[in-house]
Amino acid sequence: MTSRRDFLKTSAGVGVGAAVGMGSPRSLAGAPAVLPHRVAPVAIASGNGMEAVATAFRAVSAGGDTLDAAVEGVNIVERDPNDRSVGYGGRPNLDGVVQLDSSVMHGPSRGAGAVACLEGIKTPSRVAVDVMRYTDHVLLVGKGAQRFAVSMGHRVEDLLTEGTRRQWIEWRARMSATDDYLTPEEAGLRVPPFEDEDDGMGMLDSHDGVRPQGTINCNVINQDGDLSGVTTTSGLAWKIPGRVGDSPIVGAGLYVDNDVGACGSTGRGEAVIKTCGSHSVVELMRSGMSPVDACLEALRRVVTFTAEERLRNEQGRPGFNVNYYAVNKNGEYGGAAIWSGARFAVCSGGESRREDSAYLFERGR
Ligand code: GLY
Repeated sequence: MTSRRDFLKTSAGVGVGAAVGMGSPRSLAGAPAVLPHRVAPVAIASGNGMEAVATAFRAVSAGGDTLDAAVEGVNIVERDPNDRSVGYGGRPNLDGVVQLDSSVMHGPSRGAGAVACLEGIKTPSRVAVDVMRYTDHVLLVGKGAQRFAVSMGHRVEDLLTEGTRRQWIEWRARMSATDDYLTPEEAGLRVPPFEDEDDGMGMLDSHDGVRPQGTINCNVINQDGDLSGVTTTSGLAWKIPGRVGDSPIVGAGLYVDNDVGACGSTGRGEAVIKTCGSHSVVELMRSGMSPVDACLEALRRVVTFTAEERLRNEQGRPGFNVNYYAVNKNGEYGGAAIWSGARFAVCSGGESRREDSAYLFERGR
């Protein structure tokens, strides 16, 4: 019998020839025709990724690997205590504990890695890369993911900031009028109630107020047309401990096929998981759709799958947002959301910029 190690040894020998002679492994049928010329590199991200795309673009322009570039970009946001939707400073779960989700996909090697419910590590995207590079697995979760991260040299730290702790304490006090926690008004405190921004990426209007949901997705293509992507998040604020969103689910919050394109998502993860969102966008691009049209078509599927009345507004439309960000093999890119007003970050040289996402429904109509 051939052991996995024997198999790897054999295929490594084949792999060297393959890598030098033929580029990436054999293409899947149906990939769209790719223009023979070199591609203009571009990095795209969710609206909170202005610095991330600039960093990723610089890295890839200097000859860096597309996944290393994308991860270096999102690390800025993961380490930023003021971005309350990702990494350090992300909003905690019901118990006041920050649990992080992330996935990565590397187009040229067809690699994928992910972590979910990871506690105490500021940069879960780097742990996802380690899962991809140093294990035979794709997804590690919870305590096992943390133990793996520590074994790879990541440091365990407290991810709550004073701001997110105060938000959580206040949210807990407002949960019920009959428990023993006092709201700031009841306690006679003169602190202003916290205000949560709608960053255009995914607020869920629920009966008990607005549930913030932010995330960063970043996708990069280099001049050879190689693609990679990363998605990373602290997920839905105040979630039930153990809840996993779309971000670490390959095919939902991220998908990359080096023959076709890359896509990632932000917004209500449950809706993206149910429709295999990012994989759907890539498959629609494979069938010939532009990135924007593919994103819009995948969003229509989200609308169709939103059957629960509690998730729909008076017009029967989703009471939440989902955003897709896609780039195809020729470097064409686009973003789309269910609701108008969303923007995404782009860098294709010079300063990064925000562009308007296409949308299905206009807010306020
Ligand atoms: N899209 C992020 C989440 O739902 O967790």
